[in-house]
Amino acid sequence: MSGFSPEWLDLRETADHRARASGPEQQLAAHFAARAHVSVVDLGCGSGSNLRGTAQFLPDHQSWRLVDYDPQLLTWARARLADWADDSRSDGALLRLRKDHKRIDVSFAQADLTLELTQVLTPAPDLVTAAALFDLVSEPWLELFTAALSAAGLPLYTVLIYDGQQEWQPIHPQDGRVLRAFNSHQQWDKGFGPATGPLAPAVLAGLLAARGYAVHTAASPWLLGPEDSGLQRELATGIAAAASETGDVAPEEAADWLAARREPGRATIGHSDIFATPSPY
Ligand SMILES: C[S@@+](CC[C@H](N)C(=O)[O-])C[C@H]1O[C@@H](n2cnc3c(N)ncnc32)[C@H](O)[C@@H]1O
Repeated sequence: MSGFSPEWLDLRETADHRARASGPEQQLAAHFAARAHVSVVDLGCGSGSNLRGTAQFLPDHQSWRLVDYDPQLLTWARARLADWADDSRSDGALLRLRKDHKRIDVSFAQADLTLELTQVLTPAPDLVTAAALFDLVSEPWLELFTAALSAAGLPLYTVLIYDGQQEWQPIHPQDGRVLRAFNSHQQWDKGFGPATGPLAPAVLAGLLAARGYAVHTAASPWLLGPEDSGLQRELATGIAAAASETGDVAPEEAADWLAARREPGRATIGHSDIFATPSPY
């Protein structure tokens, strides 16, 4: 298991889709507008949320390869996508979906991105995408990834990369310390070496630009209100636990901060989306 439960991924999906920045979405749509078909690889697909959020911006016929190292999430993704579609049928290992006027063929690959990046990007798709992934990875891994992307001349569309900014309402005296501790925890190793965490949007954009990519970055914060009370509670619980795990915030202080979040208020959690295309030269 990856530590990302289907329940957590379901809980965040509405806020994730609402947060996506429209600029990169429109650039993605324009990039493939003349095409009848597009092939896509989704890295760290979880339960397939990225496909559900992105398919509407791509041509009418799509072939997706969903990649994750967690077999349970891949099984869950298949079921969630079949439920989401207007019509679905299994064709061997392939899942064939119809959604609105789109025809979407989906294959599923269990692979560890720390070990099998080359295989995952072979055969080369028309587009590489990922949601809520790149803050988990290390800078050396991002260097390998952007080198592979650039060598194959592939565009990248990625959403919901955590950028380290948070504002909670009502405010609490420990907000600053809890956030600093949480952000330092976000840089702990998540399987790829020390994670870029909140630096991920800038590091990824910088590496892509250094390889000659045209990089479009836009803010895509979660704007959470009382209607997102379940998500706020789970998020606050995770933040308090991580902050306390660093040792920079005492367990009682983290518990006090968390208690103040029991009544749902408002929260803004910063993310970035990126659409990047290789230079034509
Ligand atoms: C924050 S979740 C995002 C899931 C999904 N993209 C979404 O937006 O809901 C990160 C995903 O990356 C996957 N993941 C983490 N490390 C991985 C690795 N080394 N290889 C493949 N997948 C990995 C996890 O299993 C999880 O599904």
